[in-house]
Amino acid sequence: MPGLVARTVAEIRRDVAAAHSRDPAARGVAAAEIVATWPGVHALLAHRVAHALYTAGVPFLPRAIAAVSRAVTGIEIHPAATIGNGFFIDHGMGVVIGETAEISDNVTLYQGVTLGGTGFATGKRHPTVQDNVTIGSGAKLLGPITVGHGSKVGANSVVIHDVLPHSTVVGNPGHPVRVEGGSSQATSFGPNPAGG
Ligand SMILES: CC(C)(COP(=O)(O)OP(=O)(O)OC[C@H]1O[C@@H](n2cnc3c(N)ncnc32)[C@H](O)[C@@H]1OP(=O)(O)O)[C@@H](O)C(=O)NCCC(=O)NCCS
Repeated sequence: MPGLVARTVAEIRRDVAAAHSRDPAARGVAAAEIVATWPGVHALLAHRVAHALYTAGVPFLPRAIAAVSRAVTGIEIHPAATIGNGFFIDHGMGVVIGETAEISDNVTLYQGVTLGGTGFATGKRHPTVQDNVTIGSGAKLLGPITVGHGSKVGANSVVIHDVLPHSTVVGNPGHPVRVEGGSSQATSFGPNPAGG
């Protein structure tokens, strides 16, 4: 039990640190105020509990927690989705994270982002987002694609192909305007950086 409390406190500290470092509006705001009023932080805390219960095989409760969290924050995260450390959702309303989505460390999402499926497929059908990715407001990332580490997805992009690491993708259909940090004339996407 003391281990659980210590881990929970450490996670909350990391969530607050992520808000402080990535939300300009959080600069100078007390940690307690962020915990009390930032919807992205609430959604993440609720997801941690829901995910732990889901992984332990507890029925009903994980979905109930996710449903209440969605009603309060406007952020819908399936209890099975896996989320790393330092995750931050800014503003939050309208974010949907699907069942088989996998999010690594230090990822930032803005409002209206969908990590969704393309249809009625079963199995792995939602995006994998690697470390240090930023996904702009309203972006839709669909299917079991991989967004490589350090990449940016522009606001309102629709992305259905893998994104190379350290790239910037914009538009509908999403296309790279920067690859590996440089500029790009490329019109096609690279191979899956995760090799999948
Ligand atoms: C994509 C983004 C990260 C900028 O990345 P960047 O690497 O700095 O890219 P640039 O600003 O140099 O833009 C590169 C090109 O993409 C275009 N572009 C940038 N963002 C775009 C977008 N969201 N949709 C379409 N085109 C976009 C630019 O016009 C530019 O085109 P050009 O080369 O023909 O002039 C940024 O524009 C963005 O969309 N951020 C999301 C922020 C957000 O959601 N904020 C919400 C706060 S509430």
